[in-house]
Amino acid sequence: MSTYTAINLIARPEPGPISSELFEVTQQEIPSAGPGQILVKQTHMSLDPAMIGWMSPDKESYIPPVALGEVMRSSGVGEVVESNHPDFAVGDMVRGMIGWTEYLVSSGEGLNKVQAGVDAETVLSVFALPGLTATQGLYGFGKPKEGETIVVSGAAGSVGSIVGQLAKADGLNVIGVAGDDEKCDWIVNELGFDGAINYKTDAIADKLAELAPQGVDIYFENTGGPIQNHVFELMNAHGRIVVCGMIADYGSAVPSPGPNWIPIIKKRLSIQGFAMPDHFGDVPELLRKLTPYVMSGKIKYRTHILEGLESSIDGLNLFFTGGNKGKLIVKL
Ligand SMILES: NC(=O)c1ccc[n+]([C@@H]2O[C@H](COP(=O)([O-])OP(=O)(O)OC[C@H]3O[C@@H](n4cnc5c(N)ncnc54)[C@H](OP(=O)(O)O)[C@@H]3O)[C@@H](O)[C@H]2O)c1
Repeated sequence: MSTYTAINLIARPEPGPISSELFEVTQQEIPSAGPGQILVKQTHMSLDPAMIGWMSPDKESYIPPVALGEVMRSSGVGEVVESNHPDFAVGDMVRGMIGWTEYLVSSGEGLNKVQAGVDAETVLSVFALPGLTATQGLYGFGKPKEGETIVVSGAAGSVGSIVGQLAKADGLNVIGVAGDDEKCDWIVNELGFDGAINYKTDAIADKLAELAPQGVDIYFENTGGPIQNHVFELMNAHGRIVVCGMIADYGSAVPSPGPNWIPIIKKRLSIQGFAMPDHFGDVPELLRKLTPYVMSGKIKYRTHILEGLESSIDGLNLFFTGGNKGKLIVKL
């Protein structure tokens, strides 16, 4: 009998690091595809900060929590190894919400074929959530114009690094915020950002004033934390704040206080939070926007690969320590 590993969520996270006690690692017999079904062997699984939210009991979020006892939710890429489905052949590579499992039997619903010639790491790092989120947030809400100044927090991360490169390609002054010098060096010297701020060691206000002498037109917020109030104070009239993520608060018992709203009136700021599930219907249009930048070599990325399904559990903590250098992917 051949078995495979799957990991179920069995408890809700508390503030602080993610522990293995939240999960149950199971071994099961590898199933067969039934009539109209396919059997998918997952090869690459995406880890995302959003998983912390999916594990929490909050029913008012944009997506229901993962039920206790169920396989943990995640997106990934896999190979069709059995098919009784007319639209899928053995050997097809597919992407979709596969979960923390080595194998999945599926009707095919929610799975899309990976375009030939695009490898799994590029799919998960660029054409899946990171690139789609960057494109939706920047163009849908940031409305960038040549010559403007944008500040991106989480700038060396999967979403932030793409936001900054898109903005740079469109002729903006791009300032990235990251948590160590290696990341700051990477976004400036490899990705072409105009400047970087290490929020842990730099004098944030001074550095921001030096890099954004004309003020800030767009703030693409991926993290929250100490940078937030400094950027808020420098926003120009009619500036746009795109609230994509607040990872500094995901593991904290008490959320940090937000800025006062008076400047929102005085400066006529637009502040827009968004969550990608609202925009999944727009994916073809988002890919039409993003793909030319990728094809013309304007979007670089790097991956941080973990080996084996069980590495996902501790891997989630890398998002909070900043230990991930690039898109976090589990190779199965
Ligand atoms: N709205 C949506 O639909 C959507 C979709 C995708 C992602 N997101 C959000 O976008 C953000 C980035 O996601 P990602 O996948 O690209 O992750 P990522 O940036 O690749 O990884 C998370 C990074 O956050 C930084 N960080 C952790 N704790 C921090 C803190 N206290 N203060 C400041 N920075 C901190 C760390 O980098 P440093 O070393 O630089 O600290 C860490 O590497 C997350 O908040 C995520 O939830 C939202």
